[in-house]
Amino acid sequence: MTEATQSPAGSTEDAWLVARVSRGKGDEKRFVEYRVPARSNQTVLDVVTWIQRRLEPALAYRFACRVGVCGSCAMTVNGRPRWTCRTHVSKVLEDGALTIEPLRNLPRIKDLAVDMTRFFEKWRDAGGKFEGAKDRTAPLARVEPDSAARKAVDAGIECINCGVCYAACDVVAWDRDYLGPAALNRAWTLVNDERFAVTAETLRKVSSSGGCHSCHSHGSCVEHCPVGINPTAGIAGLKRKTMLQVLWSGGGE
Ligand code: SF4
Ligand code: SF4
Ligand code: FES
Repeated sequence: MTEATQSPAGSTEDAWLVARVSRGKGDEKRFVEYRVPARSNQTVLDVVTWIQRRLEPALAYRFACRVGVCGSCAMTVNGRPRWTCRTHVSKVLEDGALTIEPLRNLPRIKDLAVDMTRFFEKWRDAGGKFEGAKDRTAPLARVEPDSAARKAVDAGIECINCGVCYAACDVVAWDRDYLGPAALNRAWTLVNDERFAVTAETLRKVSSSGGCHSCHSHGSCVEHCPVGINPTAGIAGLKRKTMLQVLWSGGGE
């Protein structure tokens, strides 16, 4: 259901775009159309903020940094999960319109704001918390810059927990227990960190039900990650390491 277009009274703007925004709580399916002045270099987050400030003060959405650092502004724009603060309207506008919805695969709180609790619980379930064996008085660990493990960590460490890959993943949509690309990417960076003290425990967690072996390797997470992380490659690495762990332990008995 789409409600009638809203625009500010007495406006003298020349160029406009239409933003079709998902409104409501939970699974409610309701869109409201807003007319928003078109500007050069305008981002999708600018559009949402303009609507909230000029037309719809009760519109719920989330952002903080506006420059692609905090990861809180992710939404679905014309069917694709994106950081709205780094998405220029000119790149995604279709026939003068935007359709803006909350991220997929996470329960909606209200309008464009989703509940990230389960997303972060899965980081914990994947063993995503760093645990070292040394204390602050120990000498600094020596990590060879050119080692394969160091390169694997560097490739995945810039994740900012935005949830875009999680929203893009069809396996998350089918299997609510699947840990998902972000949590598994985090686990991959840890098991390659030579200071990490509980590698075997983390490999056990990521190889249990809903873990890395549920990944279908179709790469939607890679295609959508705004910082260019490749969770599929890390998950493939976890599959190899967990298989080796089983072999080394004599068949997992
Ligand atoms: S891997 Fe990329 S898309 Fe996924 S949460 Fe991290 S930064 Fe976001
Ligand atoms: S490659 Fe794996 S984690 Fe990435 S989107 Fe596909 S199923 Fe999900
Ligand atoms: S508002 Fe921080 S990443 Fe978009």
